[in-house]
Amino acid sequence: MKNLFSMADLTDIEIKALIKRAIELKNGTSPLKREDLYISNLFFENSTRTKKSFEVAERKLGMNLINFEADTSSVKKGETLYDTCKTLEMIGIDILVIRHSQNEYYKELENLGIPVINGGDGSGEHPSQCLLDLMTIYEEFGKFENLDVVIAGDIKNSRVARSNQKALTRLGAKVKFIAPEMWQDKSLGEFVKFDDVIENVDVCMLLRVQHERHEDDNKRSFSKEDYHREYGLTVERYWKLKSDAIIMHPAPVNRDVEIADELVEAEKSKIFEQMRNGMFMRQAILEYIIEKNKL
Ligand code: CP
Repeated sequence: MKNLFSMADLTDIEIKALIKRAIELKNGTSPLKREDLYISNLFFENSTRTKKSFEVAERKLGMNLINFEADTSSVKKGETLYDTCKTLEMIGIDILVIRHSQNEYYKELENLGIPVINGGDGSGEHPSQCLLDLMTIYEEFGKFENLDVVIAGDIKNSRVARSNQKALTRLGAKVKFIAPEMWQDKSLGEFVKFDDVIENVDVCMLLRVQHERHEDDNKRSFSKEDYHREYGLTVERYWKLKSDAIIMHPAPVNRDVEIADELVEAEKSKIFEQMRNGMFMRQAILEYIIEKNKL
């Protein structure tokens, strides 16, 4: 079974083929039509972008989207994730898209007879977000080799940081991080100060402060204003960026925390373009999963 659990499931060639296909779809090529296939999106954590762009992508492929709401499902009666997914397989669902708060939840689904696309696992990985981020960077620079990328934010709790670090490094970009000490994960790479790198970065990626993953937010030693000043993209820092640098954020954005309110739609910002690209990338991912599994 070919799943998309993490970026490690894709070769560099497959990543580049997905980017090429997503750009073709964005430029107007018609997607594959598979009106015979059934798909269900199981979101056990909140989502707007990932869930809705998968829904639009699935409908554009003509697929039958079978609604699943965790709160009204038998999960509430204690049914396990595996039993829920196996049930959906037996009922006739062909593909599952799953977001879950448990890191690597997908390990218990390896023996399912239908493919799973990971829509985000805890602080583990978020491969479809990573692929749309790569598409956005590629559209801008036409390459990844030797690009200077800085990822600032709640790195320790971020699945986006993990997926992007792995993929961008593999593709030849140089990735550094910015975070308060308590949200650093040194296994990912070098942590730097914003003001030491701002003038040299090609891609400035801000990540959301993930309050829902903090055990006790009250123990933070800094206010939102302090965080913005030290670790956020302020207006002063924006004007130090190179002329062709871009700003990214997977969103949702905490305005005036990770990024100054007025910069969210600034000229260098690709934040809403990332969301547009997300739908095309998710069409490309669905086509890939359909083809690889000969569905
Ligand atoms: N970027 C992202 O995953 O957004 P959602 O949580 O809204 O899906």
